[in-house]
Amino acid sequence: MRKSILLLSFLLVISLGKVVADEGMWLPILVQRLNYTDMQKAGLQLTAEEIYSVNHSSLKDAIVGLSNGPTPSGYFCTGEIVSDQGLIFTNHHCGYDAIQKHSTVEHDYLTDGFWAANLSEELPNPELSVSFLVRMEDVTDSVLAVVNDTMDVQERAAAIRKKTAELRKNNSDNGRYNVVVKSFFEGNEYYLFIYEVFTDVRLVGAPPSSVGKFGGDTDNWMWPRHTGDFSIFRVYCAPDGKPADYSPDNVPLQPKHHLPVSLDGVKKDDFTMIWGFPGNTDRYLTSFGVDFNLNNQYPAIIELLGRKLDAWKSFMEADTKVKIQYASKHASMANTWKYLIGQTRGLKRLNVKEKKEFLENDFTQWAAGDEQRSQRYGTVLADLQNGYSQMAATIRPMLYTNLAGLGGAEIIGYALEFASLRELLNPISKKDLPKDKEMAAKALQERQEKLAATIKNLREGVQEQFKDYYAPADQKVMAVLFDAYAHEMPFELQAEAFVAMLAKKGGNTEALAAEVFNNSIFASPEKVNAFLDKPNLKALEKDPALRLADSFMGKAMEAAGGFRTAQASLATAKRLFLEGLRKMQANKVFYPDANSTMRMTYGSVQDYYPADAIHYDYISTAKGILEKEDPTNDEFIVPPYLKELIEKQDFGPYADDNGKLIVCFLSTNDITGGNSGSPIINGKGELIGLAFDGNWEAMSGDIAFEPALQRTINVDVRYVLFIIDKYAGATRLIDELTIHKSEPKPIRIEKI
Ligand code: ARG
Repeated sequence: MRKSILLLSFLLVISLGKVVADEGMWLPILVQRLNYTDMQKAGLQLTAEEIYSVNHSSLKDAIVGLSNGPTPSGYFCTGEIVSDQGLIFTNHHCGYDAIQKHSTVEHDYLTDGFWAANLSEELPNPELSVSFLVRMEDVTDSVLAVVNDTMDVQERAAAIRKKTAELRKNNSDNGRYNVVVKSFFEGNEYYLFIYEVFTDVRLVGAPPSSVGKFGGDTDNWMWPRHTGDFSIFRVYCAPDGKPADYSPDNVPLQPKHHLPVSLDGVKKDDFTMIWGFPGNTDRYLTSFGVDFNLNNQYPAIIELLGRKLDAWKSFMEADTKVKIQYASKHASMANTWKYLIGQTRGLKRLNVKEKKEFLENDFTQWAAGDEQRSQRYGTVLADLQNGYSQMAATIRPMLYTNLAGLGGAEIIGYALEFASLRELLNPISKKDLPKDKEMAAKALQERQEKLAATIKNLREGVQEQFKDYYAPADQKVMAVLFDAYAHEMPFELQAEAFVAMLAKKGGNTEALAAEVFNNSIFASPEKVNAFLDKPNLKALEKDPALRLADSFMGKAMEAAGGFRTAQASLATAKRLFLEGLRKMQANKVFYPDANSTMRMTYGSVQDYYPADAIHYDYISTAKGILEKEDPTNDEFIVPPYLKELIEKQDFGPYADDNGKLIVCFLSTNDITGGNSGSPIINGKGELIGLAFDGNWEAMSGDIAFEPALQRTINVDVRYVLFIIDKYAGATRLIDELTIHKSEPKPIRIEKI
């Protein structure tokens, strides 16, 4: 599951004393203490040192976080190193944005796939980076030493920020490493993570979307699945092995560890573990939080994203170029939209709120148990309830302002990028200049330089803005989102410029959008460039898109203010609730919520019963690809050569013992967005597949884990290899891998 950037930032182990597998995203340094014995019993054959070690190469050295830029603090996906030449496997939907950016109507790698024939054909991706975890450390004591209970929320946050900055600086080895400090258990613990970040990451291979995204949005978040959701990258470094930005002189990285690949496949109950960078979970959310999500937060987001998606879709269907341009934006938004719908359904069906209330009743009783407890925890639940009701009162205006206004039509956000230019074009009045003549001249010159730099920057951004942009589609988005805004946003909270401009159009949002797009300089690259050739203040001041942007911005700040105050009031209550809960259930081993740090989860290969009288098998096979085939539906096209291979059952060494080609399989591992692309590994430390999704019946999983229903959907590594080898003929990549197979030896893999 890819981590969604869109989700706003707010978005119970059972037995006593013993950790239960399946549920839990565990921190690698605690594995030996908390999980190792249990994992061994379940089928793990590696030593604890082979899993996580700071001094020797270990499994963790083959796991990378995918992100953008050299100093990330979070990761949208996970990848794994699979060769001694820095080859990385991840999901197709994780590489999707990179693949899309390299695609044009002439070279449509989304539709046709991409296979670099040799190193020199591998394509650089200027933004992309991969992070290797060097080590991690518990810094709770030193962080909590700088705070005390008399501090208010702001003071506490400031003290922690200062301490964190110091820790980051002291551990960076003069900037060599990217150091991240994260809060755990709602600020009850802190850990530090030291990463080596590589910024030359190249695209090596991708199957066509008809394999990598087979089933499209229809099958997304669902089982049974038949998707070959993988893509291949390679990490490069300077000739001395150090990280370096892209250069033709860079060489493939020789990693500390790479995962061998197993062709042995999976059986029910087999031990599995998944390593990666899960982004966000909210397992300790209270009933008030569930209520808030269900009734206040999600409905508005679902409504607004749905409108935008529909508008885009109609233009994508009509024009191949637009389809490529909007593919990545559309896929990731559609993913979030379906996630929120599924989560809403899951929370209701599984009575999550009621289950939380049950626990909260216990908490109330426990807190009343003695004087000290009741002092510290007595008001915690009431504070939470209060905080959420304040958030509930403020979130709707915030969501509408942000999702329908400021972040609705793309032209609004783009116009806002010119606000700093407008400031610089405003002549400085004499009284704002220094008295001293020389200094005044210097100030004027600095301003001129700043102006020139700003114009240069904006000019460089033009191509980027319009590469994946189609103004008529954006105009439609504006019309449908403004319509929602006009009807759903209380009139007195609507942005002034919006109200005035809409009144002039007699309340018709289509007409308003048309007026904006006809008159704004931000609607076409030609107009923007012509403006930048001769920038003038007047044009900016009267630009309708920028006027709207300003007005929405003002409202967004107001709305955010109230919301943030409510959120801050929750921070203390959340921390105390979790502190109390851990005391109340002193025998339970708690695991921390996901927060974009490296985690390990273990479980087994398992089927499930999604509803009464229905049983879902734990594997899907190539036969199902042909069953789902529908040449009239873009999401279910089967490439002719794939069809031929499946019909002839020409699976090479990648078939199972019965001659079937397994495509995907299920496991009980506990994952979430950010884990996409994560390796699923057997008891011997070998790669058996790539995790890529969760299942529809347990979409409430980020808030409550449901052991009977919650499954991870993995693509079988044998299907990945089959596509690379038999379908694409990219045998040079197969030759790089370390392939393991128990007896009988495979027919075609001569190298092992
Ligand atoms: N649900 C998957 C995730 O969150 C994304 C799968 C992408 N596929 C798609 N059809 N959009 O990572």
